[in-house]
Amino acid sequence: MGFDFSQPRFLLAPLAGWTDRPFRQTVKRFGADLTVSEMVSANALVHNPSRSLRLYEKSPLEDPYSVQLAGSNTETIAQAVAILNDEEGIDIIDLNAGCPAPKVVRSGGGSCLLQTPALLGRLVETIKKRSQKPLTSVKIRLGFNELNGIELAKTCEAAGADFITVHGRTRSGGFSAPVNYDAIGEIKAALKIPVVANGDIDSYEKAQWVLAHTGADGVMIGRGAMGAPWIFEQLKRGEADLSDALRFSVILEHFDNMLHFHGQRGVAIFRKHLHRYTKGFHGATAFRDRINRIDNPDEARVQIAAFFAQGVAA
Ligand SMILES: Cc1cc2nc3c(=O)[nH]c(=O)nc-3n(C[C@H](O)[C@H](O)[C@H](O)COP(=O)(O)O)c2cc1C
Repeated sequence: MGFDFSQPRFLLAPLAGWTDRPFRQTVKRFGADLTVSEMVSANALVHNPSRSLRLYEKSPLEDPYSVQLAGSNTETIAQAVAILNDEEGIDIIDLNAGCPAPKVVRSGGGSCLLQTPALLGRLVETIKKRSQKPLTSVKIRLGFNELNGIELAKTCEAAGADFITVHGRTRSGGFSAPVNYDAIGEIKAALKIPVVANGDIDSYEKAQWVLAHTGADGVMIGRGAMGAPWIFEQLKRGEADLSDALRFSVILEHFDNMLHFHGQRGVAIFRKHLHRYTKGFHGATAFRDRINRIDNPDEARVQIAAFFAQGVAA
C-alpha cells in the first residue's frame, strides 16, 4: 500500500520507549493511517544492525510503515539508509529534527538540526537520493529557541522531502509550552508539500479544529495514544467511548503481544503502559504496587485480568 494525502491522515507519532512493535500493532487495529518506528540512531544502526532491528521490526498490519532515523552525519545516514533499503515493507524514511534530549542534541542530531538548516538540508537530500523507498519525510519543531519553522520547512522541501510533520513548539518549549498552531498554519501556507500538524491533539474535536485552523494535511498523535491505543477510532470518526469490555480485551491482547515480542522482559516493559491503562481506576495505586513486584508472565496476566474484570463488574 502506498501513502498519500488525498484525505486528512491520522498518524501515530514516534515515541521512544513506547511505540515498539506490540504497541504499534495494537494502535493499528484502531485505524491509524500510518505508524512510525521509534527513533533509530543511524550510528547505532550502522554499528549494530541486529540490535536496532528490534526497534523498527514491523507487524504485518503496519502497511504503510515509516522508519525514523536520527543522526547528523551524512555518511552515517547514507549507510543507515543502505541498510533500510535491504529491508522489505518500509514505505517511508523519516528524519528526526525535533528530539530535545540532551544526548541526541549533543551529538548534533534531533532538534540540534533546527540550528543548522544547511546541514538539515544535506541530510534530507542524502536520504532522498539514497533511499529506494517511496517517500522521504522530516519531523521538525518550530525552531530551537526562536521561531524559524518556515525557513526549516522550506529547506526540507527544497531538499526533496515528500512531506513534513511539524511539532508546534520550539526546542525550548519542551513538551509543555502552548502549541503554536498559527505557526504550523503559516508553514503549511508557505509549502507545496503536505504538512502534518502535531502537538497536544487528543480528541476528535481537537483534531478537526487543528485541521481546519492550520490547513494541515494530517495530524500526528503521540501522548494521546499512551494508555489509549483505541484513540484513532475516536479521532477519525468522533464516536463515543468504546465499551469497557472491549478496552480490557485490548489491554490483555497488548500484554500478550508484549510477551510474544519481548519474552519475559515484556512484563517489566508493560508496567508503564499499565500505569496509563489503570489511571483513574479505583484501586489503581494498590494494583500498581502489586504488579511492579511481579516478573512472572502468568502471574502478571492473572492479576491484570482480575483487576480489569473487577472494573467491568463495578
Ligand atoms: C516519551 C516520548 C518519546 C518521544 N520519542 C520521539 C521520537 O523517538 N522521535 C520523535 O520524532 N519524536 C519523539 N517524541 C515527540 C513526539 O513524537 C511528539 O512530537 C510530541 O510528543 C508532541 O505530540 P503529542 O502532544 O501528541 O504527544 C517523543 C515524545 C515523548 C513524550
